[in-house]
Amino acid sequence: MRVLVAGRSGQVANALARGAAKRDGDIICLGRPGLDITDDHTIASALDEHKPDVVINAAAYTAVDRAEGDSKAAFAVNANGPELLAKATAGRGIPLLHVSTDYVFSGSKTTAYVEDDPTAPAGIYGKSKLAGEEAVRKTNARHVIVRTAWVFDVTGSNFPKTMLRLAVQRDEVSIISDQHGNPTDAREIANALIAAAKKVHERPQDAEWGTFHFSGPASMNWADFARLIFAVSARHGGPVARVLDITTDDYPTAAKRPANSMLDSSQFHARFGYQAIALEQSLERCMPQWLESLKGGA
Ligand SMILES: NC(=O)c1ccc[n+]([C@@H]2O[C@H](COP(=O)([O-])OP(=O)(O)OC[C@H]3O[C@@H](n4cnc5c(N)ncnc54)[C@H](OP(=O)(O)O)[C@@H]3O)[C@@H](O)[C@H]2O)c1
Repeated sequence: MRVLVAGRSGQVANALARGAAKRDGDIICLGRPGLDITDDHTIASALDEHKPDVVINAAAYTAVDRAEGDSKAAFAVNANGPELLAKATAGRGIPLLHVSTDYVFSGSKTTAYVEDDPTAPAGIYGKSKLAGEEAVRKTNARHVIVRTAWVFDVTGSNFPKTMLRLAVQRDEVSIISDQHGNPTDAREIANALIAAAKKVHERPQDAEWGTFHFSGPASMNWADFARLIFAVSARHGGPVARVLDITTDDYPTAAKRPANSMLDSSQFHARFGYQAIALEQSLERCMPQWLESLKGGA
């Protein structure tokens, strides 16, 4: 199986590049300028050169707050880009796996979101990602859209790395405790995407096209996530800070965050046979590298 991944330097793309075992086939990760998903010429060249069996779109404009003042760029990458990828893959008979987000929901539900819950994004990022989902659905029937949330990886900028950096500087951190979600290890997303790619490639007749949720198994608020990060950090001799609970109103941001980002991943597990490992196991795995990167100031 030959898989082409759009978005070389991102957390999910990196996890795909790193984690793919040889038995998964060839994983080719391409990013700008060689593959720019807003440029159909670069898409066509990449597809014609690499002739993938499956394409995964892990590229996105993910700066949620910046998107509020930069709607044009967010829609170009998150809506127009997936549409161009869907058009190019559909024209060549290639399935497209597309990564999306909890931000397509308003966050007002009190339990975990399932796939057919009504979407109602509050901000530009969520609106642009929803437009991308709709373009993929309309343009390439052979698609799997995977919504995920609260992503962290050994690489990139993410919540655990920010917490560890803050704990080096301070004894106390104030963290929001009225937003709930499922922290999700990018390596687990990579495994889930490869499981889905294999299924659509090896058994196309049984392929499960459509939209699915995939996230980590534990739901919690950001403050409790911070506490768990520090507990694991302490076991590794890393920095620790006391966590004070604050509310969303205490920490204003340009973009409104969903109060509830919890995703129900049971459909994905039932159809593709993969579910994420325990959160603490993921944190244990990532911690040595995070602590190492703290020394380098990364
Ligand atoms: N991070 C989260 O917490 C989170 C939560 C829910 C869903 N998601 C979704 O998960 C997916 C992956 O997120 P992530 O955290 O891995 O994102 P990330 O670390 O911000 O990486 C995004 C990647 O997209 C690339 N990119 C941006 N514009 C591009 C373009 N026009 N052409 C090609 N590549 C382009 C960026 O490359 P450059 O280096 O060139 O800018 C970057 O490598 C996205 O669909 C995101 O919406 C993320």
